[in-house]
Amino acid sequence: MPFRSLVMRIDIITVVPELLKSPFESSILKNSIDKGIVNVKIHNLREYSNNKYKSVDDYQFGGGAGMVLMIEPIDKCISKLKNERKYDEVIYLSPDGEKLDQSIANKFSLFSNLIILCGHYKGIDQRIRDNLITKEISIGDYVLSGGELAAAVLCDSIIRLIPGVIGDETSALTDSFQDNLLSSPIYTRPREYKGWEVPKILISGNTKEIEKWRMEKSIEVTKNKRPDLK
Ligand code: ADE
Repeated sequence: MPFRSLVMRIDIITVVPELLKSPFESSILKNSIDKGIVNVKIHNLREYSNNKYKSVDDYQFGGGAGMVLMIEPIDKCISKLKNERKYDEVIYLSPDGEKLDQSIANKFSLFSNLIILCGHYKGIDQRIRDNLITKEISIGDYVLSGGELAAAVLCDSIIRLIPGVIGDETSALTDSFQDNLLSSPIYTRPREYKGWEVPKILISGNTKEIEKWRMEKSIEVTKNKRPDLK
């Protein structure tokens, strides 16, 4: 099992850094950065452009619609980062990558340093994927305009698992999918609203029976909603 250093570092490379600002500016992700548990650095690929127009894309060889992110700016940015520290993975976000799930998020949350490359336009030159990328991740079978929103999803799924990020230590472990089971239903005050009542067992004070009820509900909900989960 990898041994993660105290602060996890995530470097995200993008042509649209603005798209990645707000996810890290509030709630749990912001707190994790403020607490010094995670260090997220966003790199504007245009700063690694080799021309005065700051362009980083070009037409496809062989013709076809859509621009392609060029090798050089990406290689320069990744090489600079790799000179500064050792990375566990260089991830490329793409709809044809491995589908993100809880077990991948769990695994990544143990790493110390990650580079995440966001695609844009038609995608990136294949030679980057062949030579620099160590893992390709998709967040689902649909196509986004770029990898930025997918990067935010991936980071959120990873960061919330790091000890100390979520206040209640057990909270992330009882999430849906952690045992390939969906969560049981949850309730809060009031006990009754418009005649809709909270299941009696939850206000019984019998922790053992509550645990049992939650497990049974989890199994029932999973069977009904996601019979494919095993
Ligand atoms: N970029 C575009 N679509 C994507 C997806 N579904 N997952 C990850 N990156 C993407």
